[in-house]
Amino acid sequence: MTQFSESELTEAVVESFDATPDARAKFLLQELVTSLHDYVRKTGLTFEEWDYAIDFLTRTGHKCTDIRQEFILLSDVLGVSMLVDAVNHRDRAGATETTVLGPFYVGEHKVMPHGTDISPRNQTGEKMFVQSRVTDNHGKPIAGVPVDVWHADNDGFYDSQKPNYDETGPSARARFVTDADGRFTFRTILPCSYPVPTDGPVGEMLLQTKRHPMRPAHVHFLVNAKGYEPLITHVFIGGDKYLESDVVFGVKDELIAKVEQRNDPAMPDGTKAAAPWHLMTYEFHLKPGGGIAPKPLGTKVVETA
Ligand code: BEZ
Ligand code: FE
Repeated sequence: MTQFSESELTEAVVESFDATPDARAKFLLQELVTSLHDYVRKTGLTFEEWDYAIDFLTRTGHKCTDIRQEFILLSDVLGVSMLVDAVNHRDRAGATETTVLGPFYVGEHKVMPHGTDISPRNQTGEKMFVQSRVTDNHGKPIAGVPVDVWHADNDGFYDSQKPNYDETGPSARARFVTDADGRFTFRTILPCSYPVPTDGPVGEMLLQTKRHPMRPAHVHFLVNAKGYEPLITHVFIGGDKYLESDVVFGVKDELIAKVEQRNDPAMPDGTKAAAPWHLMTYEFHLKPGGGIAPKPLGTKVVETA
């Protein structure tokens, strides 16, 4: 056939992928074509609108670098990242809930002793003591587990977003390894809410659609134990005003910690602290299984012969 009606066109494009050798790739492409064609028909998409969409996606691509991924940000603010996360973690079986990795995981965090103060440099935030534990989904402690931790500075930026990051190196990020009872502790500052990067097309979309760009205050955790699914999650600070409207839809009730405000002169490890300071207590429960922990942005794939 050389001439197609609207619905025949969709069928023809779907059929054009019939010989795809990989069954999953064939399925994904055919479903994508079906959904895209439905969208065009349903909206009666105009030429101007399609041109705008092409230009938007082109600019999104141009904004990407080795360490800046505007497409991931787009997926995040459209809720696609959280939906992919949801369909891949349908049955938690008592394990801790997951959420987005976000673009500021740089990996290879330095192992630090328990209790280390990882507060960002030159920051004036109130101190926070974090006491945590890693167990399986039945409460059995897991020893020797590397836990990567990272969070934003008090000015709302991650160290890796700062122009002098190459010289100054990491701050407010570290790796802790759980002790025999699955525990680890560290000190830092109470994180604040912050905006996702708004200097690109995604920021432009948020502005034009009257959406705010804010994420509620949180600390990122990546818990990666042998024999368990890697856990990518955040712990959110209870009471934050953006918990109900996170721009990337990443909040889950179970991930909100009650962070206590304290006035005692010392933290649980005996470190002297100026009042007020804050105490975050949170346990992570891992699901047996496997999986590959995510590679941070900018990681070069090493080709093996
Ligand atoms: C973050 O939490 O670091 C983040 C997540 C998604 C988009 C931007 C930032
Ligand atoms: Fe974050």
